[in-house]
Amino acid sequence: MLTNAPRGTKDIYGSYMNTWKKLENTVNEICTNFGFNEIRTPIFEHTELFQRGVGETTDIVQKEMYSFTDKGKRNITLKPEGTAGVVRAYLERKMYADAQPTKLFYLTPAFRYERPQAGRYRQFHQFGVELFGSDKPTADAEVISLAANLLKNLGINNVELHINSLGGPECRKKYNTILKEFLSENIDSLCPTCKERYEKNPLRILDCKNESCHALLKDAPFAKDNLGTECKEHFEELLSLLDAMGIEYVVDPWIVRGLDYYTRTVFEFISNDIGAQGTVCGGGRYDKLVEECGGAPTPAVGLAAGIERLIMTMEAANGPDEYKPECDIYLGYVGENAKKTTFALVNELRKNDIYAETDLMNRSVKAQMKYANKIGSKYSTIIGDNELEENSVIIKNMETREQTNLTIKEIVKFMKQNLQ
Ligand code: HAM
Repeated sequence: MLTNAPRGTKDIYGSYMNTWKKLENTVNEICTNFGFNEIRTPIFEHTELFQRGVGETTDIVQKEMYSFTDKGKRNITLKPEGTAGVVRAYLERKMYADAQPTKLFYLTPAFRYERPQAGRYRQFHQFGVELFGSDKPTADAEVISLAANLLKNLGINNVELHINSLGGPECRKKYNTILKEFLSENIDSLCPTCKERYEKNPLRILDCKNESCHALLKDAPFAKDNLGTECKEHFEELLSLLDAMGIEYVVDPWIVRGLDYYTRTVFEFISNDIGAQGTVCGGGRYDKLVEECGGAPTPAVGLAAGIERLIMTMEAANGPDEYKPECDIYLGYVGENAKKTTFALVNELRKNDIYAETDLMNRSVKAQMKYANKIGSKYSTIIGDNELEENSVIIKNMETREQTNLTIKEIVKFMKQNLQ
C-alpha cells in the first residue's frame, strides 16, 4: 500500500518529464502567438459550480467527482475539468470589463473517478483555452486553429477533426422533441441511463456506448440537420473559415460531447494511434454558461486537450523521448582543501549558467570519473593538492579526449568559450 500510488494516477519524471516540458513550451509559444494569457485557478472549487456548470445529467457530476466536506462544512470538489473554474474567475475578477474578447489558457491537473485504462486516469492534466465575449464563428475558428497548430507543432499528424453543431437553445429544444418522438416507441428498450436521458437530456442518448441503444439510433435524426437559419449560417461560416485556413475536418453528427454546457459548435480531435481513448482534444461553444453561473449573457468558446493523451500520441508517432542528461563539466576532487576550492568553483560555474557537477558521495577518483561518464559529462577535471599548489588543472574533453592545461581561474572562461 505504502509504495503503491493510488489507482489511476501517474508519476511524471525522467524522459516522460522531458516530453512534458517540450509540450508545455510549445503550448506557451502558441498561446503567446494567438494572444491567449495564462490563468491558474484553484485545484478545488465549490461543488455547486460544477453541478451547475458541467451539468447535473453528466457522468462527471453523477459519478466521477472527487467531492468532500471540508472542516468548515463547505462542499468542495477537486476540479474535474478547467472551464467552470475559469468562468467563475472571469466573473469574480470582472474580466468582462476589460477589452473583449478575453482570451485565456491553462494547464491544470483534473480529477475524475473513472475506470482507469490506457489514456484514462483519475488524476490527469488538461491544456485548455477559453475565449469570452464573441458569438461569431471567427472565434470558434480561432480556437480550433490554435489546437490544429499545436498538434502540428507537436508532430502529431495522424488526427482527424470531427465537428458538429448542436444548435442554440431554441434549435436544441426543437431537436429534443424530434429525437424523443423518433425514440418514443422504443423507450422500454433503452438502457436505464438512456431512459433517464430521454426525460432529462435526450441528445446525450447519441453518446451511449451500449450496443442496443446504438442500434435503435440507426436512422435517428441529427441536430445539425434541424438547425434554425442563424445556427446554420454560423456553422457554415465556421466551416468556410476552416477551409480558408486549410484545416481539414469531418462533419460528424454523432459528436455531442459529455458535458451539458455546449451550444452550437462542438468538435473533437481524434487520434488513430492510441486505441479506444483516442480523443486528444475536445471543445465547443458554450453561450449560456456565463449566464448560468450568474453573469450577464456572454458568448464563449473553448477547448481542452488531455496532456497524457497528447504525449501518448507523440510517442506513438516519434517513439519515446530519450532521456539524456547533458552535464557540461564534472569536477572531481581529492582531499579537504581541494573539496573547498572545487565547491567554490562549481558554484561560480553554475552562476555563469554552466551545468556543473561534483562528488557528493565521497567516491574514489576512479569512481568519480566513472560517474562523470555515466552522466554524459562533456568535460571533466580532477583537483587535488598538486593542482592547488601549482594552480594548474587539466580539463579533459570527454568525447575527443583532448586535454587543456589551465589555471583554476581560467576554467569559467574556457567553459563559456567551448560550450558555444
Ligand atoms: P472533455 O472532453 O471532458 O472536455 O476533456 C477534454 C480532454 O481531456 C479529453 O479530450 C481528453 O483528452 C482529456 N481527458 C478527459 N478525461 C480524461 C481522463 N480521465 N484521463 C485522461 N485524459 C482525459 C472538457 O473537459 C471541457 N472543459 C473542454 C472545453 C473547454 N470545452 C470548452 N472549453
